[in-house]
Amino acid sequence: MVRISTLLPVFAAMATSQATRLLGRVNPATKELTWSATGISFAFTGTSASVPITSLWGSNSIQMVIDDGAPIVTDNVTGSSIETPTLAKGKHKVEIRKKSEALYGSVTFGDVKVTGGKLEKDKVPKRRMQIIGDSITAGYGLDGVAPCAPSAALENAPKTYAGLTAKNLSADYDIVAWSGVGLLRNYASAGEPDTQPKMPERWTRWGANDADNSYTFPASDTPDIVVVNLGTNDFSYLGVREPMQESTFADAMFAFGSTLRRHYPKAEFFFTSSPMLGDTWPTVEDAQHTTHANAVKSAVKRLGRRTHFVEFPTQGAEVGCDSHPTGATHASMAVILTAAIEDVLH
Ligand SMILES: *[C@@H]1O[C@H](CO)[C@@H](O)[C@H](O)[C@H]1NC(C)=O
Ligand SMILES: *[C@@H]1O[C@H](CO)[C@@H](O)[C@H](O)[C@H]1NC(C)=O
Repeated sequence: MVRISTLLPVFAAMATSQATRLLGRVNPATKELTWSATGISFAFTGTSASVPITSLWGSNSIQMVIDDGAPIVTDNVTGSSIETPTLAKGKHKVEIRKKSEALYGSVTFGDVKVTGGKLEKDKVPKRRMQIIGDSITAGYGLDGVAPCAPSAALENAPKTYAGLTAKNLSADYDIVAWSGVGLLRNYASAGEPDTQPKMPERWTRWGANDADNSYTFPASDTPDIVVVNLGTNDFSYLGVREPMQESTFADAMFAFGSTLRRHYPKAEFFFTSSPMLGDTWPTVEDAQHTTHANAVKSAVKRLGRRTHFVEFPTQGAEVGCDSHPTGATHASMAVILTAAIEDVLH
């Protein structure tokens, strides 16, 4: 065995790259897992597998799903590898994904090692979704019960409406999300100028911490479905700045939507309202949920064919950390989004 594999290094490398797939938007040059729900997927025959950690920074919460079973969660990845438990001899499928987003940290995996067997070819889903958003799409505070302090461990991107909808549709998915991000302006914070990049800029990056315009739009990653859930942060203003105007936001959404369409001319686009905006807070006059939704609808109308508006209603009283949607709210959003997409795709 050892002798043969040293004789055929090229062949072995090919077999590995076919069998191991990076999930989400991951720069193949660095393999750094930054964005929410990025990860690795592989299938193998044998009794266990080990995934070496070659680089790590910050806090990273991950989950490992084996043979579609219950997720095995690690709240904060440490050490030099991630190991499957010892499994029954046979064929197994493993999917490891980050639960937490790029701002908390990143992790890089090396080549998977299998005990008592070998890597097998992994099935590649036919459909691909890209979901662009903010903390809602990153699953910020999803695993917490308010009041709670947000953390990497309490984020859960695979359990967001985005992850659940992709699962419903048996689609591969790329989440491009960053908590606090806006389309025109980020979350309102008193006394600090808003110098952080907005989503139209962050979206041009391969890894979340790579340079602007580093993403190369590889044909193999082209999504069939694009979901945009932005504006919750643009609309925050209380005590800090002027309220966002409907027409200003509509213009910005139209501009970003036009950019997206240029890159993905064949995709179906779904632009959503915000479950975190309501019509009674901060003021009834603002009617933020409706104002934002109307701006999105106006952009959708101007963008024309293959663009759709999806209404996520204002969430209920039960919330996760910092008033973010709970797992139950995300599940109900997934039902809405799945139906909207299935309506279009059949
Ligand atoms: C996670 O582990 C890293 C060390 O790898 C440490 O720096 C960090 O503080 C830990 N995060 C939490 C939330 O405990
Ligand atoms: C989609 O996902 C949600 C949440 O996981 C689930 O409740 C729903 O039944 C699924 N299927 C469809 C067709 O919406």
